[in-house]
Amino acid sequence: MSGHGTPIPMIAHRSSGLSGTAEVPGDKSISHRSLILGAMAVGETVVTGLLEGQDVLDTAKAMQAFGAEVVRDADGTWHIHGVGVGGFAEPDQVIDCGNSGTGVRLIMGAMATSPITATFTGDASLNKRPMARVTDPLALFGTQAVGRSGGRLPMTIIGAAEPLPVRYTVPVPSAQVKSAVLLAGLNAPGQTVVIEQEATRDHTERMLEGFGATITTEVTDEGRVITLQGQPELQPQTIEVPRDPSSAAFPVCAALITEGSDILVPNIGLNPTRAGLFTTLREMGADLTYENERQEGGEPVADLRARFSPNLKGIEVPPERAASMIDEYPVLSAVAAYAEGQTVMRGVKELRVKESDRIEAMATGLRANGVEVEDGEDWWIVHGKGFGNVAGGATCASHLDHRIAMSFLVLGLASNAPVRVDDGGPIATSFPIFEGLMADLGADIRREG
Ligand code: S3P
Repeated sequence: MSGHGTPIPMIAHRSSGLSGTAEVPGDKSISHRSLILGAMAVGETVVTGLLEGQDVLDTAKAMQAFGAEVVRDADGTWHIHGVGVGGFAEPDQVIDCGNSGTGVRLIMGAMATSPITATFTGDASLNKRPMARVTDPLALFGTQAVGRSGGRLPMTIIGAAEPLPVRYTVPVPSAQVKSAVLLAGLNAPGQTVVIEQEATRDHTERMLEGFGATITTEVTDEGRVITLQGQPELQPQTIEVPRDPSSAAFPVCAALITEGSDILVPNIGLNPTRAGLFTTLREMGADLTYENERQEGGEPVADLRARFSPNLKGIEVPPERAASMIDEYPVLSAVAAYAEGQTVMRGVKELRVKESDRIEAMATGLRANGVEVEDGEDWWIVHGKGFGNVAGGATCASHLDHRIAMSFLVLGLASNAPVRVDDGGPIATSFPIFEGLMADLGADIRREG
């Protein structure tokens, strides 16, 4: 089910009364970072709750190829014996990051300031995605990159033998780019400074601090100025990976649009750099509440309770919220189809360079299912049909994109005719238990054929 194999056609039928508890898997962003930082620490990092999706498994394999020992216990605990900052060995094989932009970009950053060479590749989706956004700032450290035209994978990175520290303003709102530069800065002498104009997810900064690096963030007129002291000795950690709000989005949205539903999605991280979807849904009138709000490992956490919400209203999503819900626009667009009025999403150009062009993929599939959508380079508008009025009936292309596949399957849970996706295989990259979890809630989502 990695998205590399035989397509898995899937179908979602109208469902009602979703109920129960949805225990979603570990956070994908934090899982990648746990493995990479664990591999760069000296000693044994122990990780529980790691997302065992294909993207993260590919990163685990990559860390082994760079010389770290990465072992999974029978009980699902992961042990990473790190090699220290600057201790990566040169891999003797091509690093295949599968479908994962986060994996490849963060690993490129992590090895970019070591005197080693590595060649990276991925699947058909990843090999289309832009890498210059990472290799441009890495060049400032002295790193060289040779890839296909347009800065695409497969690509060879020649690490800087004598890296220079860097001061870099990230030109696009991207936590992957920010993180690649910070990880490269770990093995450069002096201070590496990254400036971002819009706040993106801050897991790298928080985790670097947790691993003992000296890192500060100052909010100035320039933006968020993040300063990292190079060449620390990272201390191994014990990490309990929180559950992924981006995965929680799917059962939550399914419950909001299916009649009679009332579900609980416990232990979801509500880090403000990640929780934009839930704020947006509440503004649309969703019956979505935070129960048992608490702090865990310095992060706000709550149990999400989502109930059927027949009176959703379209809203204009504030563009400055985009980074905090960038992965959730596809599923938001599915919910917006059931709202009254327009849902306007602006400042979302980044959606065009994800695992697929997510505006194009969702707009095409929504239109095929009877929902009017307008779109431009960095905006799109879904014209809501209201509950009970979405035709459905179409087969949608998932374009090797897990979130596109899951979003259309959610759409089909309340449409008049079932919605099909041509390939649910990519779901395994981030949410390998999606089918079983949704079935346990009472959602009629199945494989076909
Ligand atoms: C991620 C950052 C985001 C997001 C991706 C995970 C991360 O990408 O879309 O799923 O873990 O840093 P960008 O940084 O390219 O926006």
